[in-house]
Amino acid sequence: MRTVLQATAVASAAAVGYAVAIERNWFALRRFEVPVLPAGAEPLRVLHISDAHLTPGRHRLMSWIRSLDDLDPDLVVNTGDSIAHPASVRCLLDSLGPLLDRPGVFVLGANDLHAPTPKNPMRYIRAPSSVWHERNEPNLPWEKLRDGMVAAGWLDLDNQRGKLTIGGLDIALAGVHDSHVRRDRYELVAGPADPAAGLRIGVMHSPEPRLLDRFAADGYDLLLAGHTHGGQLCLPWYGTLVTNCGLDRKRARGLHRHPPDGRAWLHVSAGLGTSPWAPARFACRPEASLLTLVARDPS
Ligand SMILES: [Fe+2]
Repeated sequence: MRTVLQATAVASAAAVGYAVAIERNWFALRRFEVPVLPAGAEPLRVLHISDAHLTPGRHRLMSWIRSLDDLDPDLVVNTGDSIAHPASVRCLLDSLGPLLDRPGVFVLGANDLHAPTPKNPMRYIRAPSSVWHERNEPNLPWEKLRDGMVAAGWLDLDNQRGKLTIGGLDIALAGVHDSHVRRDRYELVAGPADPAAGLRIGVMHSPEPRLLDRFAADGYDLLLAGHTHGGQLCLPWYGTLVTNCGLDRKRARGLHRHPPDGRAWLHVSAGLGTSPWAPARFACRPEASLLTLVARDPS
């Protein structure tokens, strides 16, 4: 019995060490092909980043973000929770570096507004984590973060619509602020997406099904979200335990349809980082995604 307990303790310590020291810094680039463009359109490369939760000491994460420019994306989409410290705005903008010279859009997440605090991880299993944020005033410099990205030319899609033309393709966009803390105002962007556009993209931080339903019903072709961290601490051969929102576990990360038998595509990023108070990832590497949008199947 004693040997079993000792072996369990050693295995647990090794798993924690791996999750904190290795996997958290083992960044993955996911690649997907998404058939959402009109016939004859040239492929469009969309870099989707999310949930960096950046603190000033995370140099490996910062240099990995910077290296993503080598992918030569046509459009960058940041679905929020970028910072986790008052001094992180400059670090994030520096990390984005040349990506800011490319067309880009963003929405904010609750963690761009509220500095992280220690939480019992079991709380995520019992219920979503929105309550604390709703009760407190923002204490992170989210306006500076927003202004920095806007000054670079990126579109702020927090409860707003936008338009871009990239490589001759007209793109209609709409986004909402974070529904996890009830800052989403879909009514401000509601209505059919421009049918004349070649591509319609809906952007949100938290992939709440009621929002996904509305974007899909309004004709958006591609829905992009983060927030779930893919579950962050997952079980091998089982996967995600929690999504921290109303989305089902099977779609906590990656590319799926929405509704599951519907026309729109949903990509949920498992995110680049973690809260500094939960600095571990297990069976769920930090990631960015390069979505290569291609023409729809003519059938
Ligand atoms: Fe996050």
